[in-house]
Parts: sequence; structure tokens; C-alpha cells
Amino acid sequence: MEKDIQEILITEEQIQSRIRELGEILTEEYKDKDPVVVGVLKGVVVFYADMIRQLKVPCQMDFMWISSYAGTTTTGQMQVKRDVSVDIKGRHVLILEDIFDTGTSLDFTYKHLMAKEPASLKICTLLDKPSRRKEGITLQADFVGFTVPNAFVVGYGLDYNEHYRNLPYVGVLKPEAYQ
Ligand code: IMP
Ligand code: MG
Repeated sequence: MEKDIQEILITEEQIQSRIRELGEILTEEYKDKDPVVVGVLKGVVVFYADMIRQLKVPCQMDFMWISSYAGTTTTGQMQVKRDVSVDIKGRHVLILEDIFDTGTSLDFTYKHLMAKEPASLKICTLLDKPSRRKEGITLQADFVGFTVPNAFVVGYGLDYNEHYRNLPYVGVLKPEAYQ
């Protein structure tokens, strides 16, 4: 695995330190709000597990799984494969994401959850790649771990062909690792 990594962009220590900082901010933001923290599968799993333990307020955990429609040539057509199970109407909801790239997934997730009439809906993403944002997406993340350059990154939950999610850091893949 490590041999396929060209460069470590964000070390394990940097990630953990930033998560502790975000934890303090989110703990302040959500005290007395009993938020529902919604993770978008699967990429968020590693970040979610670390982040939720730094959110030192009563909260509920939930997950969504979305994907692009299979067998379509149109990009940006998303579907819900697994919806939230908690009733979020009137609740404070925090979306946790691995990466805010073109914005297609987050825009879809945001609108989907907004339709359920939460009391508030905010976004916390580990990585933000603003240079890749699709035209017309005005949505912004409320809390960002790291802003990254326009490179394909893996590790800490992020995959290439479902691999590399278990690397403890975020790294750039060597071009020869792409088939
Ligand atoms: P979107 O383009 O913002 O809709 O991002 C869609 C999904 O693509 C993200 O949730 C990630 O799972 C994946 N993705 C985007 N950029 C990267 C990357 O650099 N590495 C790994 N996965 C990525
Ligand atoms: Mg992915």
C-alpha cells in the first residue's frame, strides 16, 4: 500500500490535532442541542469515528449512503441507497463528510436532509478541494479540516477502487497506481 503513495499530504498527527481543534469548536456549537450527526458512507467512516469522540456533548449517530445511478452516462445523478433512520424534523443536524470535491454529493445530501425540515443543518468536511467545485454549486462547508490542492488523495477513509481506506494518513497516489 505505502509503496503506491507519492507523498504524504497530511500526517496522522496533523489529522488528530486538527480533529481535537474541531472538537472544541463543535462542542461549543452543539452544547444543549443534542445534534444528530450524519455520516455519509463509506469514505467518512474513519474520520467519523475520531471526530465523534471529540464532540463532548450528548448526540445521536446516524448514517446515509448515497451513490450515482449505475449505468447512466449523465454525471451528477445521485440516489439514496440508505437513508437516515432517526427522524430529524426539528433537530439540529451536522453532516460529516470525507471530502468536498465537485460538490455533487454534498449538494444532493444537503438538499435531501433539508427536505426533512431539521432545525439547523451544517456541514463539517475533513477535506475541501475548492478548485474542483462544479459551476453553480454555492453550498459551503461550515467546518473544514484541511483545504487540499487539486490532486487525487487516498487514505484515512478515502479510496481508490475501494483500496487505501485504512491508511492512517492522507496521501497522494502515484500515477502508476492507477490502472
Ligand atoms: P463530489 O465530487 O464532491 O461529489 O465527491 C464525491 C465523492 O468522490 C466523495 O465523497 C469521495 O468519496 C470521492 N472523492 C472525491 N475526490 C476524491 C479524492 O481525491 N480521493 C478519493 N475520493 C475522492
Ligand atoms: Mg469514494
